[in-house]
Amino acid sequence: METLNILRILKRKLLRQRNSTQTLHCMFLDYLRYATPGMCATGNIYLFDKVIRELNSNLPILEIGSWCGQSANIITYLLRKHGKQNQLFTCDGWKYEAKNHPPLFPDSDVLFADYYAFIKSSYIRNTEFFSAGRLPHSIHLTSNEFFDEWRKNAVLTDIFGRSVQLGGNFAFCFINGDHAYEPAAQDFTNCDAHLETGGFILLDDSATDGGWPGAYQVAEEAIGNPRYKLVSRNPNVLVQKQGANALVN
Ligand SMILES: C[S@@+](CC[C@H](N)C(=O)[O-])C[C@H]1O[C@@H](n2cnc3c(N)ncnc32)[C@H](O)[C@@H]1O
Repeated sequence: METLNILRILKRKLLRQRNSTQTLHCMFLDYLRYATPGMCATGNIYLFDKVIRELNSNLPILEIGSWCGQSANIITYLLRKHGKQNQLFTCDGWKYEAKNHPPLFPDSDVLFADYYAFIKSSYIRNTEFFSAGRLPHSIHLTSNEFFDEWRKNAVLTDIFGRSVQLGGNFAFCFINGDHAYEPAAQDFTNCDAHLETGGFILLDDSATDGGWPGAYQVAEEAIGNPRYKLVSRNPNVLVQKQGANALVN
């Protein structure tokens, strides 16, 4: 009877551990997050730290979906903290994607177009402050448009006015753009095509409980893909590439 109770307690403890999110605390990150609006889940910060510590190469990192710069600033901070040279690229369309919406937000005088211009200028201000000296190459394109240019090895001007050559493979991709199934799956396919073996992909909002169904489905497919290994659910899904690229670069 006593053994049974101990086993029950152990099982409950293990389940609690499995369901609890590991986090990373540091004063700078807390203050950065107070000042930079964003949606970066605390579990993602823990996973960024883990991936950045374990990066296999100096290849670039890609963030799809930047909003006001919270996660881009966090990634840049962690790259600095761990003495990593990897260049961060980010892309965002900074536009409201829904078709046939009215020009104004309901019950307001704010235009959608003005709102997204404000978000982009907030991104610039936030990264120029928190990532000064190590700005990401941020490209104002949707992820599909970005990958079209990436495949062409295009030379583009980033939103800070710097010329940058695109192309090659990534060491880590953070997918946090459109969370519907088709665009998220397309982002995964594009990232996969340009991810080095041993590289990582983190899918935002892919948690089993409360995640977005599209992002969750893409994450489950990645876990089932024999070329990928599940590294962590914290609660979002982090996978690591085992095999070669799916497409020719
Ligand atoms: C959840 S927010 C990103 C939050 C940000 N990563 C953070 O943690 O602070 C999603 C962002 O994805 C952008 N987005 C939506 N669809 C996109 C697409 N197809 N390509 C690139 N960005 C997209 C939106 O404009 C928005 O800024």
